[in-house]
Amino acid sequence: MSQTPTHALPSYLNAEDLGPWGNYLQQVDRVTPYLGSLSRWVETLKRPKRSLIVDVPIELDNGTIAHFEGYRVQHNVSRGPGKGGVRFHQDVTLSEVMALAAWMSVKNAAVNLPYGGAKGGIRVDPRKLSASELERMTRRYTSEIGVIIGPSKDIPAPDVNTNAQTMAWMMDTYSMNEGATATGVVTGKPIALGGSLGRVEATGRGVFVVACEAARDRNIDVAGARVVVQGFGNVGGTAARLFHEAGAKVIAAQDHTGTVHNAAGLDVHKLLSHVSQTGGVGGFSGGQALDKNEFWTLETEFLIPAALESQITVDNAAKVRAKIVVEGANGPTTPEADDILAENGVYVVPDVLANAGGVTVSYFEWVQDFSSFFWSEEEINQRLERLMREAYAAVAQVSREHKVTLRTAAFIVACTRILQARQVRGLYP
Ligand SMILES: NC(=O)c1ccc[n+]([C@@H]2O[C@H](COP(=O)([O-])OP(=O)(O)OC[C@H]3O[C@@H](n4cnc5c(N)ncnc54)[C@H](O)[C@@H]3O)[C@@H](O)[C@H]2O)c1
Repeated sequence: MSQTPTHALPSYLNAEDLGPWGNYLQQVDRVTPYLGSLSRWVETLKRPKRSLIVDVPIELDNGTIAHFEGYRVQHNVSRGPGKGGVRFHQDVTLSEVMALAAWMSVKNAAVNLPYGGAKGGIRVDPRKLSASELERMTRRYTSEIGVIIGPSKDIPAPDVNTNAQTMAWMMDTYSMNEGATATGVVTGKPIALGGSLGRVEATGRGVFVVACEAARDRNIDVAGARVVVQGFGNVGGTAARLFHEAGAKVIAAQDHTGTVHNAAGLDVHKLLSHVSQTGGVGGFSGGQALDKNEFWTLETEFLIPAALESQITVDNAAKVRAKIVVEGANGPTTPEADDILAENGVYVVPDVLANAGGVTVSYFEWVQDFSSFFWSEEEINQRLERLMREAYAAVAQVSREHKVTLRTAAFIVACTRILQARQVRGLYP
């Protein structure tokens, strides 16, 4: 990957391998020429406001003590409190959490939510922990980052390998430490704790909504269209189901357990129950196993990467035969791969727009918690769909005006909003 030696890099990152943070810096460079006089403030975007690294020690069920590395990064809070998920994964690094926090700043500004960007994570394979070990780790991590989170400071939410139960433990731990029930400290909570209807499905629903908008722009009929999905978890599974219910054919699915393919269309409902019973798509009898690299080369109308970052790279981008890529995951396409896709006429709806449905309903949840007044699922889905459609239209408009990709357009909209806020606030002191 070509790195960015011209940037002033923090001493705590490896300049030879910046990881996802290097990708983010390149994206900022691409948008800078469009920022006009606001580019004076652009360095603000190239460093996180605050990064916290914590040691998370717990007693394992067998009596030994294990230590895990935890992070919480607040990239930018010019427009409002930090907001972003918490990821439990063995490959989590500071660079990754920094990039994910920065993408949250951009995402929240792109869809005009009154938040900054933050992200957290623990470097752990949660599948190797028992439920009680997982609870102890989550609680200790929450307590350690408790100094910087809070309903009006920074509001975590679920991400890879975390869910409503994780959020319930986080909310309880924070509340116990504060001595007051604080439902607004996290979103993506169980409904019984002030969670919002529609939150679980919100990201996948948002992916589907913007995919339909993109299809209309590209004269593609969703009914009958082919769809290929990487990641069959919360985001990929929900998006696949909504495509299936709209008459599209999900012809392939890939996750950490394997790849399944069926040219006539997979039975998505059966595949979802197979995943909930076995933990993955591998071994599903309703399709044939497919080589993991061939997955990217399938001819399809929609390709939905909804697993991890850096999946579409220089190694496979030229082989992508999708008409539209809708990024459910954060950072699934590297900047070099982005250029190849653009040259080949593949229309990419970027993560910062496509997967903003989750944080949008998180915002609704936070508003409902503050006002202690809860909306119906129908109201939430309607508001979500309207907001996603409007955000897509605004970004598509900027993309046509400047003749740039949707990603650069989304960054133009978002970075302009963030830096305008920075400029009018001025520098303290
Ligand atoms: N959950 C949300 O609300 C939300 C919101 C915005 C963005 N995202 C992003 O969407 C992506 C998926 O999140 P999720 O909440 O669905 O997580 P999840 O844990 O529910 O699902 C993750 C999926 O990725 C698959 N996966 C993991 N490693 C893989 C690998 N090496 N190859 C192929 N597949 C692999 C898993 O098998 C699983 O199907 C992440 O990038 C996340 O940051 C999630």
